[in-house]
Amino acid sequence: MIKYHEVIRPTASENFFQQSVDLWLGFASGHMGPQMYQHHKGTKDGQPMSGVFTWDQHAKHGTIPAYNEEVFQTYLPKAAQHIGKGIPVVEFGPGSMSDAKAVINAVESHEYIPVDCSLEVIKSAHKLSMELPECTVSPAVIDFFSKNNRPLIDRPALGVFLGGTVANIPGPVPNTRPHHELINTFRNLTKAIPAGGYLVVSVDVCEDKDRNIALYNEHWHRLFGVNHIYRMAEELPMNNFDPDGFEYLPVWHEDCSLLAHTVVATKSQNFEMGNDGEILVSVKKGDIFHYNNSFKYRPDFFEDCAEDAGLEVIQSWQGVGTIRLYLFHVPPRDARNSFSAPSPNSYLQELQSRSFYSSSQLALMQEKLRTAA
Ligand SMILES: C[S@@+](CC[C@H](N)C(=O)[O-])C[C@H]1O[C@@H](n2cnc3c(N)ncnc32)[C@H](O)[C@@H]1O
Repeated sequence: MIKYHEVIRPTASENFFQQSVDLWLGFASGHMGPQMYQHHKGTKDGQPMSGVFTWDQHAKHGTIPAYNEEVFQTYLPKAAQHIGKGIPVVEFGPGSMSDAKAVINAVESHEYIPVDCSLEVIKSAHKLSMELPECTVSPAVIDFFSKNNRPLIDRPALGVFLGGTVANIPGPVPNTRPHHELINTFRNLTKAIPAGGYLVVSVDVCEDKDRNIALYNEHWHRLFGVNHIYRMAEELPMNNFDPDGFEYLPVWHEDCSLLAHTVVATKSQNFEMGNDGEILVSVKKGDIFHYNNSFKYRPDFFEDCAEDAGLEVIQSWQGVGTIRLYLFHVPPRDARNSFSAPSPNSYLQELQSRSFYSSSQLALMQEKLRTAA
């Protein structure tokens, strides 16, 4: 059964123009993550460049996704033994939901909340709910790296964060490893499950520069890496903009263990942005624009940050590649480090009262989502 979640904050499309302007003018960097996974009609030499399509192809053919899948399939049963049966599942960034059925079956769950910034989550949720009639599927649409996540469920739950997405913390290249940022990411994610439970996270621990560059340079990842440029050409008011004038370029930053995703200009071009062409952008051949991050966390660093956020490592497993799967215990919110005690209201009341939109706005939005699905 499908039941739309109360928390729906689709901001990615609204922000796309401003974030694109910021990218080209250098006002922001490493900030385009949620924009990368959106469906759009942009093409390159007849090839569809949708973020959903190019990511799916990379997920099917890429080496890092294959390592992720191997670890997940091998060790999910072991993680499930610790977790027990019947717990609701909250999955952050489920993509095409290829892993959802296995998780739901492993813990015999009857409630699944996929949380994603892409509206495609609605379509995938519909499909999954048909395959699992015993399970209520409640998609929520949010940017989970934004600073203020909302509670999504009032009971203990299993949080699931796969595909190494925990590496995509937004922002410019830092001087050192992103200690505070990773702690805050853990804190923010687990705000969604205030009654606590468990968190399963996959993370890439590879710090080998050449290997990382080679893996992100694989064919489908290179296309995924420029998909947002083709989306700009398709969807934004831009004049004289040639998306073919950019190429994906992965850049390794040793000091902070970051693989920065960038595009490099392969030719000089001047273009205008805005309905009246009010923003002039001048790009020189060789200019580099940093749009997203893949941090590579050493296991000790990753575990320290999780513990500083109040999580407890139960176990971790590593497969044939460099992907490690972690199982954390998540204490209830008032028992976690640095969290203020919750109000005496029930979490559900908090959830209802904190909605960003009025109920009529939500109803309208949900109708649009239903039509989109
Ligand atoms: C790296 S993919 C992983 C997909 C899938 N879990 C897998 O293992 O193939 C990242 C997923 O997280 C979503 N995502 C990325 N950044 C997000 C954000 N800031 N807020 C919400 N969803 C986000 C994307 O839409 C996508 O579904």
